[in-house]
Amino acid sequence: MKAVTWQGQEDVRVEEVPDPRIEQPNDAIVRVTSSGLCGSDLHLYQTLKPFMGKGDILGHEPMGVVEEVGPEATGLSVGDRVVLPFQISCGSCWMCTQGLQTQCETTQVREHGTGAALFGYSKLYGQVPGGQAELLRVPQAQYMPIKVPDGPPDERFLYLSDVLPTSWQAVAYADVPPGGTLLVLGLGPIGDMSSRIAQHLGHRVIGVDLVPDRLARAQANGVETIDLSQVDDVGEEVRSLTEGRGADAVIDAVGMDAHGSPTAAAGQRLFGVLPKRFSAAIMERAGTDRMAAIYTAIDAVRRGGTISLSGVYGGQSDPMPMLTLFDKQIQLRMGQANVKRWVDDLMPLVLDDADPLGTESFATHHVSLDDAPTAYETFAKKQDGAVKVVFKPGQRAPLTAVS
Ligand SMILES: NC(=O)c1ccc[n+]([C@@H]2O[C@H](COP(=O)([O-])OP(=O)(O)OC[C@H]3O[C@@H](n4cnc5c(N)ncnc54)[C@H](O)[C@@H]3O)[C@@H](O)[C@H]2O)c1
Ligand SMILES: [Zn+2]
Ligand SMILES: [Zn+2]
Repeated sequence: MKAVTWQGQEDVRVEEVPDPRIEQPNDAIVRVTSSGLCGSDLHLYQTLKPFMGKGDILGHEPMGVVEEVGPEATGLSVGDRVVLPFQISCGSCWMCTQGLQTQCETTQVREHGTGAALFGYSKLYGQVPGGQAELLRVPQAQYMPIKVPDGPPDERFLYLSDVLPTSWQAVAYADVPPGGTLLVLGLGPIGDMSSRIAQHLGHRVIGVDLVPDRLARAQANGVETIDLSQVDDVGEEVRSLTEGRGADAVIDAVGMDAHGSPTAAAGQRLFGVLPKRFSAAIMERAGTDRMAAIYTAIDAVRRGGTISLSGVYGGQSDPMPMLTLFDKQIQLRMGQANVKRWVDDLMPLVLDDADPLGTESFATHHVSLDDAPTAYETFAKKQDGAVKVVFKPGQRAPLTAVS
């Protein structure tokens, strides 16, 4: 079969690889019909090189049709239309029964001290072959697949694999009070969808990014926006929009590949209270850019507010301005999304033909697997209006904007 493989930093290639097979009695094989490209894939593309192996198959946002079912993959039949959560979870361990599927005790990668295994997400998460491929082996298939009806196009359901539950959890964790203001940092797929969900729930949303077409897309949905490239001090700007207090809650939908320097206004405010020698050491160890978004979040949230982190942070001991977090009495909630926990909340929205979250028009690009190298580059560089790229394995088409 054909699959998108990691070959090195900023080097993905489409290769012929052996078809996956049933390896465990509760496995299934799915023929992939659509598969998302995610901001999380960009961390593998750009930053997490030490944890990748040449030839690793990427992708963790797949859906398709069941082609083969192991004897213990009960409840699943050949021909079922299914979406696969990005994390692999068993559904029956203590963590899964708590709705913490990202911590599944059956699939935790204990060797690296990490949570549930993930499709296509490096040695840290079990080196499980991913879903940007024609076929996918699905472990824990007695629980994993989210069955969806025939009829509506793939895009209506595809985002149940990651974008929708991640954004739903981000908003749930943000815990915006009635009448409150939510600040969303980053308007990529996750920030954009989080904004849509928050608005659907009736919250005021302010969004921040620096890519013009991403700002415009959010604005078109009624989000107030701040253009990071035009504003020196996001915290001050947010306070000026919120009676001087700051946002009740902030979602960081950026993560560790942030643009901008925290040594600017927010960083100085946060580190101003530390001895200079200490703050310099912190900046050196963390790198100047890595922490830009989280520092902005800490600065822009009001006292007693909540920060909801969905952007991924990795690497060594990211130092945090603990003094400010403590002094401002900030609530910090984070983690990979527990996909299946939120499916019951989301299913009515994606089954609604009015499509309240705009899933059908959410993708900006539909591409064949053959075009993966260009698609990764275009998405990473945020060119050509690319916000959400969806691979269509089995179809051959040049990289085209669909909107
Ligand atoms: N928690 C989860 O389960 C989960 C799931 C999916 C994605 N993620 C993470 O969420 C983050 C966003 O994902 P995405 O697919 O939307 O990625 P993306 O890279 O397309 O979006 C990030 C956006 O942030 C903007 N940005 C960069 N620096 C900024 C700054 N300092 N302030 C404000 N905006 C800034 C970029 O221009 C970009 O539009 C990534 O870190 C991704 O790994 C987490
Ligand atoms: Zn993803
Ligand atoms: Zn489990």
